Amino acid sequence: MASTAGVALYPGSFDPVHNGHLDIIVRARHMFGRVVVGVATNLDKSALFPVDDRVAMLRAATRAHPGIDVRCFDGLTVEFARRVGARVIVKGLRAMMDFEYELKMAAMNKRLRPEIETVFMMTSPEFAYLSSTLIREVSAFGGSVVGLVPPSVARRLGRTIHLQAR
Ligand code: PNS
Repeated sequence: MASTAGVALYPGSFDPVHNGHLDIIVRARHMFGRVVVGVATNLDKSALFPVDDRVAMLRAATRAHPGIDVRCFDGLTVEFARRVGARVIVKGLRAMMDFEYELKMAAMNKRLRPEIETVFMMTSPEFAYLSSTLIREVSAFGGSVVGLVPPSVARRLGRTIHLQAR
């Protein structure tokens, strides 16, 4: 599919990035000239990984794909979208459970900045059950997340959980 020239922002917490996120990033890149992945810093206190680590893991996972920038941001997503020149915010939808949460955010963002559109992409079926919360939980109890996250994230999760358990 030919890409349109615009910039799209894909914001999230990415704590950590998993293969469902990467699926959306790569597919969004097919549609837009540039995709900025925005890692929100706001939740830092409750996050497993500090924002710099979340950014580093995303950069490593997207390095092979041109046209994808990974940046962190604080404050409002719509203001960050304006700063990077994005007229579109991309979000992934897995199931109905995502819908209400995403609908509220999209409506608030529209109210804050009407010129910015939120575009939803359906997560590919093989990733429909994936979430960073589940990845953290499975990892914390010693389950394997290989094949669900990029290899560097799987290694990093193993080390982090091991250190926390000491
Ligand atoms: O990965 P998540 O948890 O779905 O990401 C949520 C995120 C970071 C996109 C959302 O919390 C957000 O936009 N935070 C930035 C602050 C903001 O703009 N809040 C108002 C959104 S309506």
